[in-house]
Amino acid sequence: MAHWLKSQLTKLGATDIQLKDLGIQEHTKDLALPPVVLARFGTDANKKNILIYGHYDVQPALKEDGWNTEPFELVEQGDCLYGRGATDDKGPVISWLNILQAHNELKLELPVNLVFCFEGMEESGSLGLDDLIIAEKDKYFKGVDAVCISDNYWLGTTHPVLTYGVRGCSYYSITISGPAADLHSGLFGGVVHEPMIDLSHIFAKLTDPQGKILIPGIKEMVAPLTPEEDKLYDTINFDLEGFEQNIGSKTVLHDNVKDALQARWRYPSLSIHGVEGAFYNPGAKTVIPAKVVGKFSIRTVPNIEPRKLDEVVFKYVNEVFASLKSKNTLKVELVHDGDYWVSDPHNWSFRAARKATKAVWGVEPDLTREGGSIPITLSFQNNLNTSVILLPMGRGDDGAHSTNEKINVSNYIEGTKTLGSYLHFIAEEEKDA
Ligand SMILES: *[C@@H]1O[C@H](CO)[C@@H](O)[C@H](O)[C@H]1NC(C)=O
Ligand SMILES: *[C@@H]1O[C@H](CO)[C@@H](O)[C@H](O)[C@H]1NC(C)=O
Ligand SMILES: *[C@@H]1O[C@H](CO)[C@@H](O)[C@H](O)[C@H]1NC(C)=O
Ligand SMILES: [Zn+2]
Repeated sequence: MAHWLKSQLTKLGATDIQLKDLGIQEHTKDLALPPVVLARFGTDANKKNILIYGHYDVQPALKEDGWNTEPFELVEQGDCLYGRGATDDKGPVISWLNILQAHNELKLELPVNLVFCFEGMEESGSLGLDDLIIAEKDKYFKGVDAVCISDNYWLGTTHPVLTYGVRGCSYYSITISGPAADLHSGLFGGVVHEPMIDLSHIFAKLTDPQGKILIPGIKEMVAPLTPEEDKLYDTINFDLEGFEQNIGSKTVLHDNVKDALQARWRYPSLSIHGVEGAFYNPGAKTVIPAKVVGKFSIRTVPNIEPRKLDEVVFKYVNEVFASLKSKNTLKVELVHDGDYWVSDPHNWSFRAARKATKAVWGVEPDLTREGGSIPITLSFQNNLNTSVILLPMGRGDDGAHSTNEKINVSNYIEGTKTLGSYLHFIAEEEKDA
């Protein structure tokens, strides 16, 4: 794929094309990481430099998984293009190439310089890309004015969006150890402090039944909702019933779109994921687990600082455990974390993208955030000290990572026009101070 991209970029007139070697994958003997493809299109010092990020790797796919067509053949059927990567992220990557081709064929000059960065490890945590961004920030990526990423989706299926934030995630484990080995409850029930009972008490005190986080000090860190931000949610096209259909139950905590979306995007949430060491098979084994490890995570938002969060989480879990007066031992640890990313949706790059969306789709885009994490966004923003925009072309039902992944032809075509128009509008836009 990297070599294919290189040949396409060469044909289209890109320059300074480099396949950046990322070395050997850690913990393997000799497995080379796929190279990052870097290229330039235009080097006019009077133009802005826009970095375009995309990825040429995809999720695995087998026809047996339930595909109606060969996953690695592009099939046009009805009004959609089917195939692995159609929407995530080969479709958008190729659309950037189409934009170059269109400008070449129309003999139309692009009003900005483009710096391409296409990686091949996105679906595996973007291994190696952080280091490359840091290494190239004053070299290949010097002078980048804005970063545009087309690698997420509309919120629904009808309305284009611009995405200005994603939540972070801090993942914790609580280990409670008691007896040296599992015990029989007939012999030891009522006689020993049980790790699983301790853990259940702690779990029960992390949130209330409505999902409200009970750990003191977290709410206080959350940036207050300004009237201006609150207003952004008034006009978002989101179908709460469709959402319930999607999750297959009517168990949403909120009864209106605004509360549901704010809970999903701009407030923290705490989820309990599982317990290692507990009995989980069918049947009725009368075991007292000797040691259990409970896993939970907190999705983070501005201005929760990860280290401060760790502090309040550790303190609280220790206090709750102390209040149980258990003779077992407790260890609470951070497993991994990734910070949130939020941009200003009124800044110049977003203003240009709004104009582009309006010009192509005839409507104002919804301004969305995402509940999940896209760590590379933050890496570009921090290391290149520049604003990042997520400008998706696919729909919410494209089935990225799933079977029968598709992109609607109209999304592909209008989406390509939107990305191309964005380059023209951003050339005209005044940069923010
Ligand atoms: C980051 O960019 C802003 C202006 O956009 C500038 O004021 C600031 O000095 C820059 N910081 C660094 C570390 O380059
Ligand atoms: C957005 O623009 C303001 C000034 O209008 C500036 O202070 C801020 O740094 C900009 N933020 C980003 C992410 O570009
Ligand atoms: C593709 O887009 C068209 C135009 O919006 C729409 O009518 C059609 O239902 C879409 N097809 C699918 C399979 O989503
Ligand atoms: Zn992707």
